[in-house]
Amino acid sequence: MPETRTWTSESVADAFVSFFRERGHLQLPSSSLVPEDDPTVLLTTAGVQQMIPYMLGQVSPPAPRLVSVQKCFRTTDIDSVGDRHHLTFFEMLGNFSIGDYFKEQVIPWAWELVTERYGIPADKVWVTVHPTDDEARRIWQAVGLPNARIVVDESNFWGPPGASGPCGPDTEIYVDRGPDYACGRADCGPLCECSRYLEIWNLVFNEFFQDTSGARTPLAQQNVDTGSGLERVTAILQHAPSVYETDLFLPIIQGIERITGARYGESERLDYSLRVLADHGRAMTFLVGDGVKPSNEGRGYVLRRIIRRAARYGQRLGLQRPFLADVVELVINRMAARYPALASPSQRVQIAEIVRTEERRFLTTLQSGLGLLDRWIEEAKAAGQTELAGERIFQLYDTYGFPKELSEEIASEAGLSIGGDAYDRAMAEQRARSRGAIDQRTRLQRRVGEASELLSQPPTVFLGYDRLDTGSEILAIQADGADAARLHEGDRGSVVLAETPFYAEGGGQVGDTGHIVTPSGIFRVEDTQKDGAGHYLHVGQVEHGEVLVGEAADAAVDPDRRYDIMRHHSATHLLHKSLQTILGPKAVQAGSLVSPQLARFDFPNEGPVSAEQLAQIEDLVNREILEDLPVHIEELPFQEAVGQGASAFFGEKYGERVRVVTMGDFSKELCGGTHVRRTGELGAAYVLAESGIGSGMRRIEVVAGRAAHELARARSRQVESVAARLGTSPQRLEERVESLLAELREVRREAARMEAQLADVQAASLGQGVETVGSATVMAARVDAQSMDALLQMMDAARRAHESGVIVLAAVIGGKPQFVIGVSKDLIRPGFDAVALLRHVAAPTGGSGGGRPELARGGGQDASKLDEALGLVAPFVREHLGQ
Ligand code: SER
Repeated sequence: MPETRTWTSESVADAFVSFFRERGHLQLPSSSLVPEDDPTVLLTTAGVQQMIPYMLGQVSPPAPRLVSVQKCFRTTDIDSVGDRHHLTFFEMLGNFSIGDYFKEQVIPWAWELVTERYGIPADKVWVTVHPTDDEARRIWQAVGLPNARIVVDESNFWGPPGASGPCGPDTEIYVDRGPDYACGRADCGPLCECSRYLEIWNLVFNEFFQDTSGARTPLAQQNVDTGSGLERVTAILQHAPSVYETDLFLPIIQGIERITGARYGESERLDYSLRVLADHGRAMTFLVGDGVKPSNEGRGYVLRRIIRRAARYGQRLGLQRPFLADVVELVINRMAARYPALASPSQRVQIAEIVRTEERRFLTTLQSGLGLLDRWIEEAKAAGQTELAGERIFQLYDTYGFPKELSEEIASEAGLSIGGDAYDRAMAEQRARSRGAIDQRTRLQRRVGEASELLSQPPTVFLGYDRLDTGSEILAIQADGADAARLHEGDRGSVVLAETPFYAEGGGQVGDTGHIVTPSGIFRVEDTQKDGAGHYLHVGQVEHGEVLVGEAADAAVDPDRRYDIMRHHSATHLLHKSLQTILGPKAVQAGSLVSPQLARFDFPNEGPVSAEQLAQIEDLVNREILEDLPVHIEELPFQEAVGQGASAFFGEKYGERVRVVTMGDFSKELCGGTHVRRTGELGAAYVLAESGIGSGMRRIEVVAGRAAHELARARSRQVESVAARLGTSPQRLEERVESLLAELREVRREAARMEAQLADVQAASLGQGVETVGSATVMAARVDAQSMDALLQMMDAARRAHESGVIVLAAVIGGKPQFVIGVSKDLIRPGFDAVALLRHVAAPTGGSGGGRPELARGGGQDASKLDEALGLVAPFVREHLGQ
């Protein structure tokens, strides 16, 4: 029987995952939006991506049956977002078979989940199949789908998002939303563009491998990959006209209404902008949350476009100030339950900051863009033209992030149109560029070692413990994974020097950035990595001129950033020792990240660290900072260092001689990282967040130095602004909040009192439902109540009014019939009491319930049978209590 229930997006995701867990699937967490180790793909577009190595048999899967809810991002339609159909960020529900089950199993399961667990009427379900896939058609017929609702579609073949990978025919499941959504065309069906038939699930049968030339060969095993958009399924189950009216978006849209003052549903133009902000708000939050930064290339460019487009639509809604950080906050609040990492204080601060900075930068350049557009319009009009050149509009888009439709709108207000297809051509080139902008760094790391010239070079000499710049020589250059003799202006690649002051990522500490200057050019270093043979790869781009192998080079690390990193690294050592002091020796380092923004430290601990312990830990770290301990570094044989009590980490590889970093008498650790000279240089350190990361591991994030100062200032501004909004001063803020909370409690109490009074009034007005059966007073009434509590209160009031009697109160609550029945003690007989009456009366509504002989409650399914149910009361009483 179909379940009738109220769906939330959370319960939809739960239903999907539980359905497959019950069928032996292991749930894998969503992977990042930034595909790990797959330079061929810009962003994660489907749940199958993290499963591909399993399907190809390259890595053995944790289980042959897998299920996931995957964060996805599709960039194809960014400029169409704002209508009712398009999304960039979405969540994909998916189940996967790695050489386990195939079509015969997954099609009946999909049918069962859709028609039974979701309760979507079977006659609303349509499917499409590949013309060659008779087997899928036969299985669909066998589960009960009539042939007329199985449509053949050539395009039902799914290929990998990267250049090559698993692929195969697929079958897609559609739901018919009814004539209200129809276009009216005679041939309207699942393949029609209109919104009547909504695709909710794609089942792919991956049995081939496609190589980079497009040729296909059978895979060693048959796999299944399915993908179902959470937003769409939720829209269907919540009977929402589009995904934007589901509980995934409405709270965000309502928040944006509060920020902008616009009302959703008032005009299509405003709605369009609100939808852009809701989608892009989710998109930017999740992209930045997964580590993407705005830039002019690849995924950074996608993020930049999203932020700029959102900012423009904000302006359209009349906002002149930066506001996107507030939208990010709305998104985090809506999504925090399923994505707790997003809501950690450090993530909140960082995401908001990155978005705010990009938005500010955009708003300042926007004015110049508008000025330019105005000038072109004036010039075109003066020359008697009716068009603006498409290239110019593209330039505006590319440089200032103006959406095309905005330029068109402004131009058309001035009576001009956009000429030719030049815009589309320029756009297509741009798209190709951004698709091609693969992650250079991963590629370089991958290919290094194939490059023979580099292998013949000695390991790089690292000088960066003591100095931040040095003169050296370029020993090798790589571009696109191969040796190169030179890099020209604008080229990306990596440069290897004989000596370097740049620290290469390692031991949790991120790589340095800075510049390498040669007589012929300037190379900007964006990251430093080490290859397996001890070469330091300075990864980046030529900013000016060109750089050549064999040239002399001055290498200089960006000192402010490096100093921020050193402060965080030293803070990590103080934190480590403090954790061991307060929590015990088991709190050893299991992982760490040391960046300019913060230090992150993972360690085993049973349960969360209490607020009190956190305060003690923070106090201890700051005490040692104020002690201004000298930081002493020496190289010792490994055994000697460990003999002196230095902490060494499990899983780390140490050479024969090791570096020992000592801070006064407080801490001693083996460490290859860079540190401050005295702990006083940290200034202060604060714990930003403490959280669980699974399997008994905790994570603490701290900020020190400049980041600590910025945090303290941001917090104090926040307190000031909250105080100002509550009409008080920061000193009196707590007092004010207390009094507001007391006021709120009072208002709630008052509301409850009024509700009780209302119940009394209703009960009194029930008089007309009263009749006398034999010697008993019988009241059977349908009332208006919002909750079972309210119904019980009415029962209390009714019982006060009728000391002896049978009282039946019924109401429709949340679409379902609910009953409360009272029988006074004097009327109870064998076979007649409140419970017996309830069972009899609730039966036609498909209901049940229970309770005591004097008071019973229960509910049914079918609200339309409520009056019929009430009609059963008097005959039942008459039968048992006589005339
Ligand atoms: N990979 C398929 C899709 O993206 C199903 O998950 O549609």
